[in-house]
Amino acid sequence: MWKHSQQALALVGRSQRCLLLPSSVSTISSKHPRTFLSTPIPEVAQMDLSINSYADLYNFSIEKPDIFWKAVSGRLDWHQKFITTIQGDFTTGVNWFVGGKLNVSVNCVDRHAKNHPDRVAIIYEKDEPGHHEFITYGQLKELVVKYAHILRTVGNVKKGDRVAFYLPCGPTACAMALACSRIGAVHSIVFAGFSADALASRMNDAGATVVITTDIARRGGKTLKLKKIVDDALEHAPCVKTVLVDARDGDTSRVKLQHPRDHFLQDLMNTSTKNVNDVIEYVDSNDPLFILYTSGSTGKPKGLVHTTGGYLLYAMFTYKNVFDHRDGDIFGCVADIGWITGHSYVLYGPLANGGTTLAFESTPIYPNPGRYWEMVQRLQLTHLYCAPTAIRLLLRFGSEWVQKYDRSSLRVLGSVGEPINHEAWQWFHEVVGEKRCVVRDTWWQTETGGICLTPRPSGPTDPVLPAMPMRAFYGIKPVLMNSAKSEGQEEGALCIEKPWPGLAQSIWGDPARFKEVYFKEFAPYYFSGDGAIKNADGYWRITGRMDDVINVTGHRLGTAEVEDAMDEHEFTSETAVVGYPHEIKGEGIFAFVVLKEGGKDLDRQKMEKELKKLCKERIAGYAIPDYILFHDGLPKTRSGKIMRRILRKIAAGETSPEKLGDISTLADPSVVKSLVKARESLK
Ligand code: WT7
Repeated sequence: MWKHSQQALALVGRSQRCLLLPSSVSTISSKHPRTFLSTPIPEVAQMDLSINSYADLYNFSIEKPDIFWKAVSGRLDWHQKFITTIQGDFTTGVNWFVGGKLNVSVNCVDRHAKNHPDRVAIIYEKDEPGHHEFITYGQLKELVVKYAHILRTVGNVKKGDRVAFYLPCGPTACAMALACSRIGAVHSIVFAGFSADALASRMNDAGATVVITTDIARRGGKTLKLKKIVDDALEHAPCVKTVLVDARDGDTSRVKLQHPRDHFLQDLMNTSTKNVNDVIEYVDSNDPLFILYTSGSTGKPKGLVHTTGGYLLYAMFTYKNVFDHRDGDIFGCVADIGWITGHSYVLYGPLANGGTTLAFESTPIYPNPGRYWEMVQRLQLTHLYCAPTAIRLLLRFGSEWVQKYDRSSLRVLGSVGEPINHEAWQWFHEVVGEKRCVVRDTWWQTETGGICLTPRPSGPTDPVLPAMPMRAFYGIKPVLMNSAKSEGQEEGALCIEKPWPGLAQSIWGDPARFKEVYFKEFAPYYFSGDGAIKNADGYWRITGRMDDVINVTGHRLGTAEVEDAMDEHEFTSETAVVGYPHEIKGEGIFAFVVLKEGGKDLDRQKMEKELKKLCKERIAGYAIPDYILFHDGLPKTRSGKIMRRILRKIAAGETSPEKLGDISTLADPSVVKSLVKARESLK
């Protein structure tokens, strides 16, 4: 029996039997309709009788956003009604549902616990297949209330305080995030694959006073010493006063605590929750719910601030409509809670709708490449939402791994994080989904809070084309800037014209940077940083980032972050990092390094090792370059700017002069020739 079941049992004082998946879930999962998406037109449509198709509803949402979102907002429980639906614009800053007060944990837990206490809220799929736990809404509520009490009493957390998380994806992370929202605190979840340095800089930036972690985590059969990493990070993060440690499997013998700073959650659950006082902090709609850091084109990650009312409503409404959520669904989003996909579609979207969500702790290939499909069969998942990089990886292992397992429970498949290639889309659709499931490519970003481009609900005769997100979600009006037209299609910088409730409100501690990054270049629109194509039929396809951000195995990474890490080495004089196409990862990392005089005679292999170590220590394992090319110089313009366009081509192996383009503006064009030669020797 597993820890959380026991913990939850202790909380609710029920017999172990109650933890079996309640019959309401298991019976519903056996009668999945095998039809294509058929979400009924949301009831907002009924306010305007001229609406009789999804396209009409979309147009309505763009023309009358205030009426549209006001109608949608009725799906949340408001403690105090709001007065103004939308206030301001991109130039002034936007506020949503002004005057309204609500509590996120009440919306995601209490109201469902009241109506369906035995419905499963979270399925915790641990690293070892078959080691799953079910947490019902009733149990989740007890857990959230107790965690909130611990945060308040032991962590001294008050409204507006920041709480950092360094946790694997699981019920502790989910319930703690909800506990923060219950008391009006702001969570800042840091992906537990980041290094101690990266964790420290995020905690410092957010000014976190509490950090929550586990003694160890397990991922892909490996043991990760999370508490040790937190200890290292805390040497450089004096703002943190309290560490709450979840002892995995209840085993409190694994790590030593530093008193009085550190506490085991297990001990606190026994002692400090005797007289729990459930204080619900109803906050303003525009109060922050969480901060989430993401990479940009400079070295310093941005802490995007998401607000309570707008974000929650958008996560809830996109989840319901894009994935056609129905009662009894078992939603399998395999993203980690440390990314926005985990926030919106593991946690907030599904729970706000009263759904059953999966918290997946493992990897797609542990213990073998059948993991997803075995899990689909065992847990009767109705949805699988994952990244193209995982699909490409699994595709390589062959369809037998998929076909070994029964996937008849699946109804909707989703892809997120990077452009999905045709081969991966077809395999997902034909092999995984047996041509029976709808496939939704979903484009969005940490900044956007929820899905913005996706085939969305569409009519039975509306086409769904492979490998593109196609249509804008309700309320989203995409525009192409600096665009060029050819053969009926248009390509340019992907911007969004009008505010929508899910968009982040600011960058933590740096509102000026928020304006500068997103609203300056194509003012007065929001600029996503991506390029896109609108085809002759008006359908959208994403071409990729237009800035110095790359996408490695679905992880967003600023090339400047990697450069900063390598520049710390005493013998690097200059570095330039670019992405190049990689069959599985989407993009690989290619680093060009110029050494200082004293470094030129050093052992290159040793140097390479040291540079890779720096990337791992400063950022994370996935930030380690695939290639490091040492060279005497880099292609620069006469004003000294590195020509990344040329480096990208060289990294991609494009070596013929006509492919490299115009190099006449370089200060020293000969450097290109020698770089090409050096690149060839790396193959
Ligand atoms: C960047 C955002 C969206 C949540 C997970 C990633 C790329 C995302 C798609 C897609 C093409 C995509 C974009 C975007 N991206 N989804 N369906 N097709 N590209 O969030 O870490 O903030 O990264 O991921 O380049 O800007 P993120």
